[in-house]
Amino acid sequence: MVKKKLVVLTGAGISAESGLKTFRDSDGLWEGYDIEDVATPRGWRKNPQLVLDFYNYRRKEVAKAQPNAAHVGLAALQDDFDVKIITQNIDDLHERAGSKSILHLHGEIFKMRSEIDEERLYDIRDDIKLGDTAEDGGQLRPAIVWFEEAVPMIEPAAELAAAADIFVVVGTSLVVYPAAGLVNYAPRHCPKFIVDKKIPYNSSFYNVTSIEKPATEGVAELRELLKKFL
Ligand code: APR
Repeated sequence: MVKKKLVVLTGAGISAESGLKTFRDSDGLWEGYDIEDVATPRGWRKNPQLVLDFYNYRRKEVAKAQPNAAHVGLAALQDDFDVKIITQNIDDLHERAGSKSILHLHGEIFKMRSEIDEERLYDIRDDIKLGDTAEDGGQLRPAIVWFEEAVPMIEPAAELAAAADIFVVVGTSLVVYPAAGLVNYAPRHCPKFIVDKKIPYNSSFYNVTSIEKPATEGVAELRELLKKFL
């Protein structure tokens, strides 16, 4: 039997219970840092050392974190559904939980790239240092999509969303575009579920079931609700 296509858009909220801070909650990651300084090309040009320090620290935090029951629960859904994860997260917790199809919209913390050529990618587990260069001579920087940069993966993500039989959103405030716009690509009549400890507002959501719970509990409830689609 052909499995139904379950497309899941995740954000920082799914990793919150793994100890990784979200961006826009009051104790968010950006506290003490100005987004302009650490997550824009302008910030990089102004003070690359600060940017490297910021992401070197985050890389260590991600390495220490473990997938939680929400990541694991989404991976378990692969038994019954053709699950496609689209994540805004730069952590690797979906991978470590066992999900097989993961599209990273905003890059990955364990990858770095030449500042000249965005397609010259390398794995990185420890720190990136000023003076470390790629073969093209460009300074190495985190392979992360910063504000004001293009989001190259948005087109394949939109295609996935448009092909969804069921569309799920977990732990994103849906304020950062173009990622937030993906909900509009899901077919209007396909069943949609949103799991968030505080359900974000989205004017175009149609046929949606809201599960206002932390991700670990919410994904467990989602799995129960999805049984009726088998
Ligand atoms: N369980 C479920 N949801 C949670 C939990 C939790 N334990 N904790 C927080 N949330 C929810 C919040 O209610 C909020 O809706 O997760 C969402 C987090 O929102 P943001 O911090 O804005 O994160 P996100 O939507 O992923 O941000 C998008 O912004 O800064 C950029 O590139 C960065 O990918 C990021 C993008």
